[in-house]
Amino acid sequence: MSIKETLIKDLKEKKARVAILGLGYVGLPLAVVFGEAGFQVTGIDPDTRKIETINKGLSYVPDVQTEVVEKLVRSGHLTVTTDFSVLKDIDAVSICVPTPLRKTGDPDMSFILSATEELAKYMHKGMVIVLESTTYPGTTRELLLPKLGTEHGLTVGEDWFLAFSPERVDPGREDWTTINTPKVIGGITEACGEVAAACYEGAIRTVHRVSSAEAAEMAKLLENTFRMINIGLVNELAIMCERLGVDVWEVIDAAASKPFGFMKFTPGPGLGGHCIPIDPLYLSWKMKSFNYNARFIELASEINTNMPRYVVSRVMEALNDRGKALKGSKILILGAAYKADVDDVRESPALDVIGLLRNKGAVVEYHDPYIQHIHHEHEGWQMDSVEDMMTSVKEADMVVIITDHKAYDYADIVEAAQSVFDSRNATREFVKNSEKVVRL
Ligand SMILES: NC(=O)c1ccc[n+]([C@@H]2O[C@H](COP(=O)([O-])OP(=O)(O)OC[C@H]3O[C@@H](n4cnc5c(N)ncnc54)[C@H](O)[C@@H]3O)[C@@H](O)[C@H]2O)c1
Repeated sequence: MSIKETLIKDLKEKKARVAILGLGYVGLPLAVVFGEAGFQVTGIDPDTRKIETINKGLSYVPDVQTEVVEKLVRSGHLTVTTDFSVLKDIDAVSICVPTPLRKTGDPDMSFILSATEELAKYMHKGMVIVLESTTYPGTTRELLLPKLGTEHGLTVGEDWFLAFSPERVDPGREDWTTINTPKVIGGITEACGEVAAACYEGAIRTVHRVSSAEAAEMAKLLENTFRMINIGLVNELAIMCERLGVDVWEVIDAAASKPFGFMKFTPGPGLGGHCIPIDPLYLSWKMKSFNYNARFIELASEINTNMPRYVVSRVMEALNDRGKALKGSKILILGAAYKADVDDVRESPALDVIGLLRNKGAVVEYHDPYIQHIHHEHEGWQMDSVEDMMTSVKEADMVVIITDHKAYDYADIVEAAQSVFDSRNATREFVKNSEKVVRL
């Protein structure tokens, strides 16, 4: 049998040993899905706290239940380590490391590069390697292929196999999770795609193959760019509606009553998280090397980036209408997470809103049921979530809803607050108190 046939057979029989590099919001759920499918999975992450937590049988990712981790660790289906040398005995590797932006707005490829360098030390024949981290088109072929194959004299598609398969997880979502969200896979060669598909088919229900790694990389960027641009559109719509004196939320609901040809997006205080604000900029960055300006991305990014400033200007106006200046006013921010019901504060607009309010002299506190502490790296401030939320609600000159967590009782909040600025339409049901509430 050829190396390819042996590997596909081992994958189908679940004898292949799987490793996940990076056990974060993406990697841990993936490790669990492979483990539950019957594979022996090794998770590798340099973060010792994560490794210790999993070894205690606990989960730190809200979408992954502790009982599931405990069961897999106990049965030996999931082992975790900081030691990359285990890769010498591994057949299939999925790379799920971060791909943030540098302060300059350029892609930060350092995590992909360091994971690739570690992998390169233990490369051997019969391996299939799949990059899952969102990145610019060409990364798999331009960065991983030379370091993992060419420099070791290994022929891709014969001795080893390389593919890109974007992770599409939506944290906090229960209907579509890692196991049932179709997996797009594109190989560096036809054989690479075939082996990578065999790997994921053993754990994930639907695999959608494309002809190249670049098509898979681009598909992920299309998905996230689509969201970013549509969010930019409704954010601008919110600004236009406010000028026109029209309720943007009513307009969106009306448009969404059309059963075809329209998809609902909602405005908010700005983009957040590890994906939507960042991924499209990987594409626009890459296109610059082709002397091409990705105009839709740049425009949507500009509108979305300005939303925290817009929210602060609206808060200032709302206070002014109540005879108060922002300077010296007590502001309570509700929700620091970048979206509802998650504990992830990365790129959250709450940080920008708080920074801008502080710079204008407001006395700012925040509350988030899932995030006890926040800090702003560049501005150098930090704060803890208030302990007694309702007391802070009563004392604040204005409560500003940034994240519409389901855990909040908005009726109680509106009842107790002096005034509320609602950037998410979380208070839509409390029309009786509407004089207290200003919406985006
Ligand atoms: N979080 C999401 O909702 C989401 C959704 C789809 C795609 N993605 C993409 O998936 C990738 C991972 O995102 P995430 O949210 O899981 O990030 P994360 O920060 O939660 O996890 C990444 C993990 O990788 C580890 N790591 C760093 N360097 C490493 C190395 N050299 N080797 C092994 N592990 C290393 C970190 O310690 C961390 O535990 C990113 O490219 C992201 O854009 C994320």
